[in-house]
Amino acid sequence: MSKPVTYETYLRLDNILDAQEPMGPDGKPRPRAHHDEMLFVVVHQAYELWFKQVIHELTRACDLLADDPVPEPAIPRICSALRRVHEIQKVMLAHLPVIETMNPVDFLAFRDSLGNASGFQSAQFRELEIMAGLRDEQRVNYQGDTFERRFRPETIARFDALRSRPSLRQALNTWLERTPCEPGFVATYLMAFDGYVDAQTKTHKDNPQLSDKERANAVGMLENYRRNGHEFLEGDDADMHAACLFIAAYRDEPLLERPNRLLDSLLEFEELWRLWRFRHARMVERMIGLRVGTGGSSGVAYLDKTATERYRIFTVILESRSFLIPRKLLPPLKEKGRYGFAADA
Ligand code: HEM
Repeated sequence: MSKPVTYETYLRLDNILDAQEPMGPDGKPRPRAHHDEMLFVVVHQAYELWFKQVIHELTRACDLLADDPVPEPAIPRICSALRRVHEIQKVMLAHLPVIETMNPVDFLAFRDSLGNASGFQSAQFRELEIMAGLRDEQRVNYQGDTFERRFRPETIARFDALRSRPSLRQALNTWLERTPCEPGFVATYLMAFDGYVDAQTKTHKDNPQLSDKERANAVGMLENYRRNGHEFLEGDDADMHAACLFIAAYRDEPLLERPNRLLDSLLEFEELWRLWRFRHARMVERMIGLRVGTGGSSGVAYLDKTATERYRIFTVILESRSFLIPRKLLPPLKEKGRYGFAADA
């Protein structure tokens, strides 16, 4: 006879609530070494559950965005998945003050029993990085070796399987490459952009508060900025760059509003991830100061490197923001009706 489903059986609480005693070096659960070790275990387990949910949502977002073509209704669905991820990321950030209620001396009471265990070995965290689009060459070298040395062959196989699928970054870039801009967009936009840079240059040239050296410096930087803008729209990956700028510049057009929301959602995902890296490093700093990590890294110095530019993912969106110009300078769209909803066209 089948057993009735209860709260406890449905959620498999036996498994979950039976897992807060840490595993010892002999492969057997051991009694907790300190009252606060329970908190340490529970917070990490809660993170792993949230990682699992985020992987679930990102898988959906990646699959939808990697479609060719991406159907119009898929965009709000991707944004909804990302919105859920953002809220989870905020919860993950809020776990850090909880762990900070632990006194560093109390942490030291059981830290040695962690051996070489470290968040560095979180396979789901690495999966998330790969799914987002962090490339191996971006990673900070860890004791002269790849991060994979720390994982079992079956876990490495999971990383490889993920690498063989489009990441969010790749799916975004391919989608942007296919997104058509108005014919002649690049030429007309660059004319408007040049006018914008000219006006900025004039403001600096006419500024009596600047010394000659400061003026020359500002003008030089603006010329660099102009060159970078042209390079962005006419150099490598020009189609992808143009689409990204076009969407953000003309986001008021009904058909571009959702794509623009997608770009914002991806930036928010990245920003919250970076915030977590930074906040985790500050928490670690408070907890262990400048000593080496249990995983054997330099500790805070290593963690801080992972919160820098080097770990950025959606660089195309970020770069495109540099070359946006004020709305009043935007060249009017020649085929405006094309970007309205069908009824407006
Ligand atoms: C007392 C609390 C904590 C301390 C002292 C701490 C310390 C550290 C240190 C020193 C590292 C660098 C690697 C190493 O040498 O071990 C690290 C990495 C890491 N920790 Fe924590 N951690 C704490 C809590 C957490 C929590 C609650 C999580 C949530 C899952 C977490 C996730 C990670 C992850 C994912 C990494 C790898 C980061 C990367 O390589 O980019 N840590 N941690």
